[in-house]
Amino acid sequence: MLDFDFWSPTYFSFGRGRESMTGELVKKFGGSRVLIHYGGASAVKSGLIDRVKKSLKDAGISFVELGGVQPNPRAELVYAGIDLAREHGVDFILAVGGGSVIDSAKAIAAGAPYNGDFWDMFCGVPMGENVLPVGVVLTIAAAGSEASNGCVITGTDCTKRVFSGPSDLNRPRFAILNPELTATLPPSQVANGGADIMAHIFERYFSKTKDVETTDRLCEGLLLALIETLPRAVKNPADYEASANIMWAGMLAHNNVVGVGRKQDWLSHRLEHELSAKYDVAHGAGLAVMFPAWMRYVMHYDTPRFARFARNVWGVVDTDDLTAANHGITKLVEFWSSLGLPKNFAELGAKREDIESMADGVAALGCEGMGSIMQFYKNDFIKIYELAADAK
Ligand code: NZQ
Ligand code: ZN
Repeated sequence: MLDFDFWSPTYFSFGRGRESMTGELVKKFGGSRVLIHYGGASAVKSGLIDRVKKSLKDAGISFVELGGVQPNPRAELVYAGIDLAREHGVDFILAVGGGSVIDSAKAIAAGAPYNGDFWDMFCGVPMGENVLPVGVVLTIAAAGSEASNGCVITGTDCTKRVFSGPSDLNRPRFAILNPELTATLPPSQVANGGADIMAHIFERYFSKTKDVETTDRLCEGLLLALIETLPRAVKNPADYEASANIMWAGMLAHNNVVGVGRKQDWLSHRLEHELSAKYDVAHGAGLAVMFPAWMRYVMHYDTPRFARFARNVWGVVDTDDLTAANHGITKLVEFWSSLGLPKNFAELGAKREDIESMADGVAALGCEGMGSIMQFYKNDFIKIYELAADAK
């Protein structure tokens, strides 16, 4: 196991009706003037925004609001949020939504006190220590941004980028996780979220680091729980118990508790970000197409690891490692397909002729040389995209 530091300071309030605690939690974490940030229509329509406002009012906290965050959030709204936060002397950003809203909120929180263009922090300038606190009321289990140090924004140049500097300061101070709130999700979004959660585990599990049995077992356990609960939640997004398990799994998959002490991969995410930047597809749907392609490409470089995945997660019994590894990947594709997720470029709405330019885009973001089991370069990006395009 590798040496590591791990700092995950988010306070969780989990359960039915917990959004009524919002005002109290903002106060507990030092907020007095809040920017409420949310997405399209869902949180307004469900009455959640009104309940959050009531909780803030009851706690004597004033607020301004900014809705309209799109999936794959854009820099334009971040600039608007930064202006609003400065204009009103906001000292706390409250995200009510999913990964897109939370990431937009994190970018505003980092950008408002920054003396310059917030986009610098996505282009190599480390974020400073002067960052506004962020709180979250989560409405979809997926990106794990409610406790992660990540933040993904699409710039005005149409590149989708992740914070480049150390960003642990941007981990939310609190996250309210009420599984009732995901009952209004369309089944396709439950499935997209499930694919993303599983992908966050894969990025860590498929590692070249040996002797990480503790986190390997945590990864496998989370995957088994998701395989059991996701079909229930996709069938019925109002299944509270299934949603509750998925919501907690989504947090555990990405606050890095299962990723410490090992070299991680993350190429599939970078390849997917290029897809969602180009076609505006849902992140989880893009991963459902990219990850099996990545697996089929990489399994030859560490077949025993892929055979272990097949046996421990999918119950595959083949004794030959290569046969087992292939079988495990097929089981994953069948599982995701049963949830209605796409398998290839055609089902996703992506085009084979864009592969070269997407590979260039990934390389331009400095991703050549990344990877855990192997290091990837532009030629590898192209081959993995081709496997994804042609998958059956
Ligand atoms: O905008 P509204 O109307 O709310 O609709 C949203 C949106 O259309 C809808 N939705 C959310 N909660 C709902 C609901 N609809 C009905 N009822 C509810 N309770 O779902 C749609 C998707 O929302 P979004 O926030 O985009 O989903 P997700 O959580 O999957 O976030 C995706 C974004 O997170 C980034 C992705 O790249 C993508 O931009 N990621 C962020 C990470 C991080 N910060 O650590 C890590 C991830 O790997 C990922 O890259
Ligand atoms: Zn993801």
